[in-house]
Amino acid sequence: MPSYTVTVATGSQWFAGTDDYIYLSLVGSSGCSEKHLLDKPFYNDFERGAVDSYDVTVDEELGDIQLIKIEKRKYWLHDDWYLKYITVKTPCGDYIEFPCYRWISGEGEIVLRDGRAKLACDDQIHILKQHRRKELETRQKQYRWMEWNPGFPLSIDAKCHKDLPRDIQFDSEKGVDFVLNYSKAMENLFINRFMHMFQSSWSDFADFEKIFVRISNTISERVMNHWQEDLMFGYQFLNGCNPVMIQRCLKLPDNLPVTTEMVECSLERQLTLEQEVEQGNIFIVDFKLLDGIDANKTDPCTLQFLAAPICLLYKNLANKIVPIAIQLNQVPGEENPIFLPSDAKYDWLLAKIWVRSSDFHIHQTITHLLRTHLVSEVFGIAMYRQLPAVHPIFKLLVAHVRFTIAINTKAREQLICEYGLFDKANATGGGGHVQMVQRAMQDLTYTSLCFPEAIKARGMDNTEDIPYYFYRDDGLLVWEAIKTFMAEVVDIYYKSDQVVEEDQELQDFVKDVYMYGMRGKKASGFPKCIKTKEKLCEYLTVVIFTASAQHAAVNFGQYDWCSWIPNAPPTMRAPPPTAKGVVTIEQIVDTLPDRGRSCWHLGAVWALSQFQDNELFLGMYPEEHFIEKPVKEAMARFRKNLDSIVSVIAERNKNKKLPYYYLSPDRIPNSVAI
Ligand SMILES: [Fe+2]
Repeated sequence: MPSYTVTVATGSQWFAGTDDYIYLSLVGSSGCSEKHLLDKPFYNDFERGAVDSYDVTVDEELGDIQLIKIEKRKYWLHDDWYLKYITVKTPCGDYIEFPCYRWISGEGEIVLRDGRAKLACDDQIHILKQHRRKELETRQKQYRWMEWNPGFPLSIDAKCHKDLPRDIQFDSEKGVDFVLNYSKAMENLFINRFMHMFQSSWSDFADFEKIFVRISNTISERVMNHWQEDLMFGYQFLNGCNPVMIQRCLKLPDNLPVTTEMVECSLERQLTLEQEVEQGNIFIVDFKLLDGIDANKTDPCTLQFLAAPICLLYKNLANKIVPIAIQLNQVPGEENPIFLPSDAKYDWLLAKIWVRSSDFHIHQTITHLLRTHLVSEVFGIAMYRQLPAVHPIFKLLVAHVRFTIAINTKAREQLICEYGLFDKANATGGGGHVQMVQRAMQDLTYTSLCFPEAIKARGMDNTEDIPYYFYRDDGLLVWEAIKTFMAEVVDIYYKSDQVVEEDQELQDFVKDVYMYGMRGKKASGFPKCIKTKEKLCEYLTVVIFTASAQHAAVNFGQYDWCSWIPNAPPTMRAPPPTAKGVVTIEQIVDTLPDRGRSCWHLGAVWALSQFQDNELFLGMYPEEHFIEKPVKEAMARFRKNLDSIVSVIAERNKNKKLPYYYLSPDRIPNSVAI
């Protein structure tokens, strides 16, 4: 009688093991085996991290093994099980690998295919076609789209983390509980004593150090020491945690009536302002998206305010970018003066603080939440709904959407919901952040997610002309590395453009992203279908770059740049100044966040900047969904490329007082998970 050796690997995360009964059946081209209980006498099977082997003898020849079926039945209490993979050694000595990397819950069962990636057109056998179809039918029932707020990209239909399919939940819910993390942050930072002190202003700037000192690190300390300097202010638009706002100014905006006379003492080339614009030395950051957004009214005891500044910057003779004019609101007028470096010290400082605060709002809600978290979730949901596990693109993307739906669900549950933690300290809390996302949807175009094009669109692509833009330089290296890797994988599975075009599952994935994620908006420029291998490579590069590099660039610098509160005030407690020459230091301190809000903010930026335990960085694929050698070789080349980028960045950063490391691949997690 034919005998098979079946090896079963259980996951090593918490609670991955099970005491339930596990049955296995083999489905071959000539027949299907009986159901076998996998059990070794006097042995605790399927413990966490275990790799157990079993002999399975069947009554008749099964032919080629096409599927294996695993059933889990209750032993005592339901005990979820995380199955990594199964390998089957056939009677003729061949090994077949069946990757799983999924949870089996309750009285669950799972049917697995061997690990070779297949497009639908490669499957001719009826039961394999049927398996593909059934898997998607089941997934589409589990992964449903939901509109969380009108006009938002659709998100997952789940009220809370525990409602999510088990496979996409965090291993331990505790690790990502924002309420717990905030409290942990407060404790670690020794700031508990201040956190209830709402409405209580700090006495002066130095007073902020009371909450800061415990957790200072190299960059944030430098920010604390230099935040008032124009050079530091300008530098942040290039290499801070929101490096996506600055644009080359091609024409002075009509609503910023700034003249050469006003900025003369900042210009170093004996040219008029218009000539400086023509020569490409003027840059602009316009926060018009904030115009008319409602400020947080959730605390009747604290009035909070927003502005919508326009900031003009200048590239000086040392090639450094410095601010030269700031208008705090969009409509020019007597009560909306243009602040200048030549103004009184505190006038200019407060104007810059308003810009920093506005930048913080755009960063948090648009650059970070919308353009990385929510976008990545869209790709994740569409992937689960439209691509079966055997599809090469599923195998490729699954590592890059890991925990993304979970973290967003948690955020909707605790952070950005009505009465959520976000409302505590942010001027855009209480609904302003929702209005901002709704507005920003019109700029959420496909090309704006294509990194090289996004840089070009802002006129920031010339490296000689604009040196020191490390976000751009490092981002391009990582983008190219991902794109090369994508081209190699796409080449393995798609022999021609026609194969791409005829891959209905892939087309359904792309269409889901367009219809539900981008709400079917033609102006988004998101493709409705993909016709060529080249376009497919680009699309996949967008998915992976957004989830990994772009998120890392805007997430992990939050503590560095936003912990020194005057450099990134999450709220302002007095309206923008309407005249010059009246601002005092006391007024600035009374405008800045109070003690309580400062602590909540600090807790937030600290918690959000932490890597997870056992973080998986770009190119790390411990789950072996792919078993084919050419793909594994492509992955190895990808990692080698990334390693050399790590070295290039380390060399560049050597001896820099402000190193830029957010896009060093060894610090870029694979997916959006915090
Ligand atoms: Fe994040």
